[in-house]
Amino acid sequence: MTEPSEPRHRLYGRAAGKPLSKRQQGLVDDLLPKLAIPETGKGELFPAVLFGAATKGVWLEIGFGGGEHLAGQAQLHRDTAFIGAEPFVDGVAKLLTAIDENGISNVRLRRGDARDLVASFSDASIDRAFILFPDPWPKTRHRKRRLVQPAFVTELARILKPGAKLRFATDWADYANRALADVLRDGRFTWDAERADDWRIPPADHVTTRYQEKRLGDCEPVFLDFVRA
Ligand SMILES: C[S@@+](CC[C@H](N)C(=O)[O-])C[C@H]1O[C@@H](n2cnc3c(N)ncnc32)[C@H](O)[C@@H]1O
Repeated sequence: MTEPSEPRHRLYGRAAGKPLSKRQQGLVDDLLPKLAIPETGKGELFPAVLFGAATKGVWLEIGFGGGEHLAGQAQLHRDTAFIGAEPFVDGVAKLLTAIDENGISNVRLRRGDARDLVASFSDASIDRAFILFPDPWPKTRHRKRRLVQPAFVTELARILKPGAKLRFATDWADYANRALADVLRDGRFTWDAERADDWRIPPADHVTTRYQEKRLGDCEPVFLDFVRA
């Protein structure tokens, strides 16, 4: 397995904010352990086995924030298995609330760094991945903290099955340009957009996220849909 060539930076700030409500704390204490993905060695986790029933595939969302997209997709695709990673407990608690309220049974979670989770997956084990509005780190000296870097792209290419889709979205122009270059440079992804509308118009199967709605970036949201060759 390829080891990251860049030094590893912590990519996110505090993993907790204001205290959780009693209900949220209860879900974190009681529901999260039932849905949590066990820690394994590198490349040892076969994600499909986390889901008892046969599934149509395993989709992964990295940095799901408040979980609007993950919960939305999981309800739209009840026969698909969903895995989400997010270090921020407030976001995890929000997603747990949505799971509880909507009877969602096809989601498993990792509260923590997605890079560790991705490293634990076996080769070609994920059918689809989403990285939506990741922390932009717009200052030049902070760019190395961005999630999408060449070494992470290498890992994504390793865990995605041939034909799997990878969706990256951002509203920061520099991140869009660099992510596009990093993913294509890997050589194992194709991107068949032809005109601006192909990346400017949210894909028909997209579920709007909270950060997308905030419009904090320096450009309109850009959606890059890659296919693992
Ligand atoms: C700008 S927010 C976007 C959240 C969500 N995707 C949305 O669009 O609303 C970026 C999220 O990525 C999470 N994050 C940052 N570094 C991460 C990492 N290494 N692994 C997993 N999640 C990470 C942050 O905690 C935060 O919730």
